[in-house]
Amino acid sequence: MNILAIETSCDETAAAVVTDAGAILSNIVASQIKDHAAFGGVVPEIASRRHAELIEPVVREALHGADLSTGDLGAVAVTCGPGLVGALLVGISYAKALAYGLDIPLCGVNHLEGHLSAAQIGHEVSYPHIGMVVSGGHTSLYRVTSPSSITPIGQTLDDAAGEAFDKVAKLLYLGYPGGVVIERISQGVDSHAIEFPRPLMNERTYDFSFSGLKTAVLNRVLKEGIFEDMDLTFSGLPVKKTPRPGKEDLVPKIAASFQQAVVDVLVEKSFRAAADHHMDLLVVTGGVASNTLLRESLKRRSEETGIRLIIPERKYCTDNAAMIGIAGIRHISEGRFASLDLNAVSRWTWE
Ligand code: KG4
Ligand code: ZN
Repeated sequence: MNILAIETSCDETAAAVVTDAGAILSNIVASQIKDHAAFGGVVPEIASRRHAELIEPVVREALHGADLSTGDLGAVAVTCGPGLVGALLVGISYAKALAYGLDIPLCGVNHLEGHLSAAQIGHEVSYPHIGMVVSGGHTSLYRVTSPSSITPIGQTLDDAAGEAFDKVAKLLYLGYPGGVVIERISQGVDSHAIEFPRPLMNERTYDFSFSGLKTAVLNRVLKEGIFEDMDLTFSGLPVKKTPRPGKEDLVPKIAASFQQAVVDVLVEKSFRAAADHHMDLLVVTGGVASNTLLRESLKRRSEETGIRLIIPERKYCTDNAAMIGIAGIRHISEGRFASLDLNAVSRWTWE
């Protein structure tokens, strides 16, 4: 059976075709990064409008890439939350109309279940295991006892790790999206030049906190007097600023040291959760899992501890529809179908 998967929870309009045997026939992602860059973050209203414009061509391209037409589809799987409600509704409405028109089943997929399901693409996943989703909206640890039995055991109490990358990039006047620019500017720079805090790293909790780290970066920027006339409300549109003469090398040092602090916390807590729960597998996914320092540091810790590690390929870490299709296969095999009153949810309540 061919399944069309649709993902529109944030700022990527994505469609994929997967088979019920788990083959990815196509995986199309139209990023809206350029539309939001001028604002320094995702603007929900702009995201919804762009999804409405892009959904049709993106689905068409996914079908074309799979060399199929709508008549070849056996089911539609769509992200129904958590995410931006207006953005989600574009994908959900499109998926419902298609499923109704073609008289095929519809599945509503949790975006986070989708992220965790990306581990199955090209990897043999064993259960139970510990899963960590690190993205712009989430930094959470889960006990995954079966593909559809997911229990949260920890989450961020304030900012998500990706959000911290985006905010720190903004206060360093590096532009958007933050993760990629911070990774780029940190290359080859001493990441211990400045010692930033590692919030909650050595506490017993599996929760995270990144807003204090972001404030520590801001305080350092102010103390060093790196930029002139900083807008401390960060409410205006982002402007690119060059550091004061003589202060230029501080920006990459701060970026690299911040990145190291986030990576240290993520590596420490995820492996501790796996060890405490006697798990021999850790899955790490989400947009931040495309960060090279994080991937390499996790791999090193996996070799040291003997706890197996799966990090999906980068294109399956950031938002995509293939991961929603993989989760959709499971919904179909378990007979979990959505009705045409499927709605969008901004926050997910785990059972
Ligand atoms: O999973 P994702 O594509 O969307 C959400 O569900 O949020 O994650 C996007 C987040 C953004 O905050 C972005 O800055 C971050 O992932 N990100 C990175 C990197 N690439 C994307 N963070 C650190 N390093 C990267 N290379
Ligand atoms: Zn995501």
